Amino acid sequence: MLQKKLPWHLDFARHAGRHRHVDVDRPATLTPEQRSALAISLSTFQIGEDGTGEHLLAAAKEAAATRRYRDALAMFVIEEQEHARLLALVLRAIDHPLRTSHWTDRVFVFIRQIKSLRSEVLTLLVAELIALSYYSAMRDGVREFADVFGRIYDDEVRHVDFHADTLPHHLDQWSTGTRALVRVLWNVLVVGSSVVAALDHRAALRVVGVSPARFVRSVWTDLRNLDQRLFSASLDS
Ligand SMILES: [Fe+2]
Ligand SMILES: [Fe+2]
Repeated sequence: MLQKKLPWHLDFARHAGRHRHVDVDRPATLTPEQRSALAISLSTFQIGEDGTGEHLLAAAKEAAATRRYRDALAMFVIEEQEHARLLALVLRAIDHPLRTSHWTDRVFVFIRQIKSLRSEVLTLLVAELIALSYYSAMRDGVREFADVFGRIYDDEVRHVDFHADTLPHHLDQWSTGTRALVRVLWNVLVVGSSVVAALDHRAALRVVGVSPARFVRSVWTDLRNLDQRLFSASLDS
């Protein structure tokens, strides 16, 4: 029998604190060169996960989003901060300090200056799509990190599902023409960002046995599915 999906604010509440007791051991199987390649890459993702969600929550309020949706968004932000904490544990296990800034993070912050809920969520979905392929590669590539990256990956799957369920309602408020244009621009942004991420993180991806081409193909597969869920229903209606 199909299990009924919980409303998202209850789903996030049910998952709260789930990673509280996670610990990360020092990986015995990695060489110092492999540790260094992973650390440089992971420290970039760690910054990306560590946002306050201030713009997102303000945009949701501005868009008169429902209380339940805003509660779900607030708990979504907390889960992302939890990922930052878990990545900090991984970095500590491989003796690497935390980074304080990275150019890709500054680009996303710049794009998000548009300050609408729809552009906020579409922008963060670019990062979420890249995160899906990245964390699954990390989960499968380093035995000692399988648990921590498996946890983060499972959350990211829920995050994408959450936004795919809730964003179309807000995209519907654009005209058909605007939605079609946004759809093209957003697809271009995801494709471009996936290539940049694959190249920028190629050394870490090599450690876990994933080529840049395979990484990009993986992001594009998820993109096709998400694009359908976000835009098809609203354009057809
Ligand atoms: Fe995350
Ligand atoms: Fe996420």
